[in-house]
Amino acid sequence: MKDVQGKTALITGGAMGMGLLWARRFAADGVNLVLWDIKAEEMARAAEELRGQVDVMTQVVDVSEREQIYKAAVKVQAETGGVDILVNNAGIVFAKPFLETPDEHISATIDVDLKALFWTMKAFLPRMLELNSGHIINISSASGFIGVPRMPAYVASKWGVIGLTESVRLEVRAMHKDGVGFTLFCPSFVDTGMFEGAKAPLLTPILTPDEAVRIAYEGFRDGKYMITAPWMVGLTPALKGLLPSRLFDTISDLFGATSSMDEWKDTRHKG
Ligand SMILES: NC(=O)c1ccc[n+]([C@@H]2O[C@H](COP(=O)([O-])OP(=O)(O)OC[C@H]3O[C@@H](n4cnc5c(N)ncnc54)[C@H](O)[C@@H]3O)[C@@H](O)[C@H]2O)c1
Repeated sequence: MKDVQGKTALITGGAMGMGLLWARRFAADGVNLVLWDIKAEEMARAAEELRGQVDVMTQVVDVSEREQIYKAAVKVQAETGGVDILVNNAGIVFAKPFLETPDEHISATIDVDLKALFWTMKAFLPRMLELNSGHIINISSASGFIGVPRMPAYVASKWGVIGLTESVRLEVRAMHKDGVGFTLFCPSFVDTGMFEGAKAPLLTPILTPDEAVRIAYEGFRDGKYMITAPWMVGLTPALKGLLPSRLFDTISDLFGATSSMDEWKDTRHKG
């Protein structure tokens, strides 16, 4: 088990949803926190709750803005001494057929769900390499393994998160920096409100946020690299690789995976 007591974890999107649950898990294990979010009020409430247990620094950072990330990272380094664990959790989704999706939604999704991870990793990985100590937890999704109609930008970002993490992990491995670890978390639907109205495919029940973060956190503490949940998600890449694509598509239809986003409701963006 990784020793985390007294370390500092930065969580993007730490004000609510699974980000807040990651924060609670870390606080319970004595890990000091840096929370980044665009929701100042929710973040202040989270910090108030957690301050009795650990040190909590909050910064309003829009992770779609590279310069905000770099500027905030300098402040974090100065005020906390450095980040030992980075959780790239902030995420957004829009769901509409590809050709009806406004360009701004595509750009915003890729900026928050994928590009932000390049900038946070560039900001915090160098110190981890210098110390040969640290851990980066990147949140992908079950949709990092498959295509899902109505959300190509989200899916492309989550595939991208896997490719990015895999490539950087291999670079770090080639440097023999064994003290720097990586975890990819790929859950199917989690009941936080982000995917309101989405239908769970067969054998892939919707997870409660507590269950999802418990699985991810315990996996991280055990030093796991790839964490999938529920179990069916872990089978998906193998099935996709082995089955002819027409058969895989038919099974996806039968399981309801290809229609899972048809009834999605946006609870996160107004207008
Ligand atoms: N909920 C699910 O079903 C599900 C499934 C698979 C993967 N995920 C992934 O898990 C992560 C957390 O999802 P969640 O369900 O807790 O979502 P959520 O909407 O409940 O929380 C997301 C958090 O990110 C913050 N955020 C959004 N845009 C931001 C920005 N530009 N800058 C900084 N912070 C920003 C939000 O304010 C919020 O606090 C996301 O990366 C999501 O893609 C979620």
